[in-house]
Amino acid sequence: MIFPDIAGEIFYFSKIDSTQAEAKRKLDDAISVPFTIIADTQIAGVGRFERKWYSPNGGTYFTWATDYLDNPAVSLIIGIALANTLKKLIPGYDVSIKWPNDLIHHNDKIAGILVEKYDNSLLIGIGINTFDDKDNYKSIPAGEWTRDEIISTFFHTLSSPWKNSDFSIWESFFLYGFEPFVHDFMELTFPQGTEIDVIQGKQVTTGRFHRVGVNGEIMLNSDGEILRFLSGEVSIKLHT
Ligand code: BTN
Repeated sequence: MIFPDIAGEIFYFSKIDSTQAEAKRKLDDAISVPFTIIADTQIAGVGRFERKWYSPNGGTYFTWATDYLDNPAVSLIIGIALANTLKKLIPGYDVSIKWPNDLIHHNDKIAGILVEKYDNSLLIGIGINTFDDKDNYKSIPAGEWTRDEIISTFFHTLSSPWKNSDFSIWESFFLYGFEPFVHDFMELTFPQGTEIDVIQGKQVTTGRFHRVGVNGEIMLNSDGEILRFLSGEVSIKLHT
């Protein structure tokens, strides 16, 4: 499989603790970015908020190590690229982004994104449910794709010219920030007015989804007041 240059050197593992941990070890060993770690299974996969990320064989687990970019909207851009990747590979697939970085199909989480800063690098870890466990985890549908094609298409999506511009999604984001992508994100996320909770630690704020802002923050209409959150997670009220 040929991967676009943006992925850098590819390191494969059949079993590993976590592709994020391996990327940190490579950086400690002075391997330079970009590079990508891909594993068939992880025995200590990690999610956001130090949660475990269940990583059986057949799932898609990779970490892309690249130059650090100080922008809180990185995970939103990656979510846009990943959602578009799945739409390209699975025509008609209904996938949406739940702020800040979950991919959802019919209320089921099918992929997650973890963005970490390490030294002067950015580690972007992506887990996609491509394994079959109908009871607890929903996979993306079987189709004309392999794991490596998903990963390669993701890097193509990130690095090919974006919407007739001279720049790719990733270059545009470096140059102009998140603002040009707000519209794309709004098309891929839940509708405005959806009743949601924004959860920050023990603090829960309820309101109606207003939009995402130019810094990637989520805005919530709570009793007529627009509140902005740059971090946290969202729970969607299913009755709306
Ligand atoms: C989340 O939704 O909480 C983020 C999950 C990120 C999981 C991926 S799988 C590849 C990489 N290695 C890890 O240990 N975690 C990320």
